[in-house]
Order: sequence, then structure tokens, then C-alpha cells
Amino acid sequence: MGRRFAGKVALVTGTAGGIGRATAIRLAGEGARVVAADRDRDGLARLADDIGPLTALVYDAANGDASAAMAREAVAAEGRLDMLVCNAGIYRRGHFEDIAREEWDAVIGVNLTSVARIVQAALPALREAQGSAVLLASTAATHGIAYAAHYAAAKAGIVALAKSLAVEFAPAGVRFNAVAPGRVKTGISAGLAPLERQDPSLLVRSPRLAGLTEGGEPDDIAGVIAFLLSPDARYVSGSLVSADGAQNVG
Ligand SMILES: NC(=O)c1ccc[n+]([C@@H]2O[C@H](COP(=O)([O-])OP(=O)(O)OC[C@H]3O[C@@H](n4cnc5c(N)ncnc54)[C@H](O)[C@@H]3O)[C@@H](O)[C@H]2O)c1
Repeated sequence: MGRRFAGKVALVTGTAGGIGRATAIRLAGEGARVVAADRDRDGLARLADDIGPLTALVYDAANGDASAAMAREAVAAEGRLDMLVCNAGIYRRGHFEDIAREEWDAVIGVNLTSVARIVQAALPALREAQGSAVLLASTAATHGIAYAAHYAAAKAGIVALAKSLAVEFAPAGVRFNAVAPGRVKTGISAGLAPLERQDPSLLVRSPRLAGLTEGGEPDDIAGVIAFLLSPDARYVSGSLVSADGAQNVG
């Protein structure tokens, strides 16, 4: 594997499993020093077993102040920040009329507000390094998703955030992009019971690409994230890149 990120520092959130873990492994494999952040302490320890010594930070994305403090701690620990991947997220299902205020706030809090707070805290270091950030959206942001309107609304916010910051910080040389995965084989829906009274005809369609109709692998998304962070993407900012195996076209 090439060493596109030698000498660079990356903060990746949600690294205990799924896409975040695959991204941390890929960036470290290409030479980056990785700061791994998650609420799952054991998952962070398993990541360190696999990729060697790293700075691991336990934080709760439900808490905006804790999210910002985590980002400041990451910068302080490594002395610089070149790459930021805001990946931690939660998925919840519910009939829109049944979504309680607390559930709405929790989904927006983890998936959107925490991301904004982390970016704010990381910006001085990203400016200094002329760095780059990738924010994890979802195809739900652009296509909607039945029974998860709070999730889709948060992810649409992520797209708008990435595009707005790409413009605002272009003069500083900091790039912002968003990635929209379609279905990916991770544990994000584990433990969620099927909804009663759901209409199967409204449910999200499957990916169509041969060999990937059950969904992509986490590393399929990590590769896209790594590209966007790399010098090959130096002219790419404010983009939303979908990786969904042709799930949402046609
Ligand atoms: N898997 C998919 O099909 C899919 C599709 C579109 C978008 N996404 C997005 O990709 C990102 C990664 O999802 P994934 O599928 O790898 O999920 P995952 O559940 O496998 O991993 C999410 C990680 O975030 C961490 N996390 C969750 N809540 C947290 C909190 N409050 N504080 C700190 N850490 C927390 C979890 O511990 C976990 O390690 C998410 O933003 C998700 O919305 C996933």
C-alpha cells in the first residue's frame, strides 16, 4: 500500500466498528498517525490491537461540549491535525408521528450537532495544516428514507454543513467534503426491531451492482474517504460523493 499520509495526523470518530474502524485501519496503513474516538472503550482497544499504538479518546457524541473537548484533546495529544473524519453516528427507526422530542434531539445531537462542535474545535489546527475534513452523510440525505425522517434530516444537515464550510474556509485552504454511503454491512441497525405497521413498498431499495446487492463493505467507504483526504483530491471541496452500488439511480 502507498504512504499517502506519512507524517499526517487524522482524527476519526466512531472508530470502534464499521466504517470508522475500516477508515482508521486504512489511514494508518498509509502512514497516518490516527486518533481514534468513540464511546466504546473496548472497541477502541480492539482497534489498537490491530493497528498498533494510537491515541484513543472515549467521548459521548450525545454531548456537544464533550465532543468539542475530545477534538481539542486530539489536537493537544498529537500537536497537529491534518485530517478529520466525522463518522460516528446512530440510526433509529420510527413512524414520524411517533418520534418523541427526546428521540428527535438524540438523533440530531449525535449525527449533526456533535459534528459541528468537533469541526469548530478542530478548525484552528486544520487551518494551520491546510487540512481536509470528510463528514459522513447518507443517501438518506438526498433521497429521504421512510421511517427515519430524523436521521435523514440530520444527514441532510451534514451535506449543507460540508458545503457551507467548504466555501467559508476555501480561502484558508481547508477542504470539506461529504460522503453518502448507501447500504453498508455494519452493525448500525443491529438490535433495531422491525416497526409495526410498516409498508414494505416504502422501504429503501437494494444496491444493484453485481456482487454488492447485499450492501458494500466498510472498506468500500473507507477507500472513498481516503481518496477525498488525499492530495489526489486537492481540487475537490464541497462535494457530496455517493457510494451506494447504484442503489439510488434510475
Ligand atoms: N451502514 C450503513 O448502511 C450506512 C449508510 C449510510 C450512512 N452511514 C453512516 O456511516 C457512519 C458510520 O456508520 P456505521 O455503519 O459504520 O455504523 P456502526 O454502528 O458500525 O459504527 C458507528 C460507530 O459510532 C460510534 N458511536 C455511536 N454513537 C456514539 C456516541 N454517542 N458517541 C461516540 N461514538 C458513538 C459507535 O460506537 C460505533 O463505533 C454513520 O455516520 C452512519 O450514519 C452508514
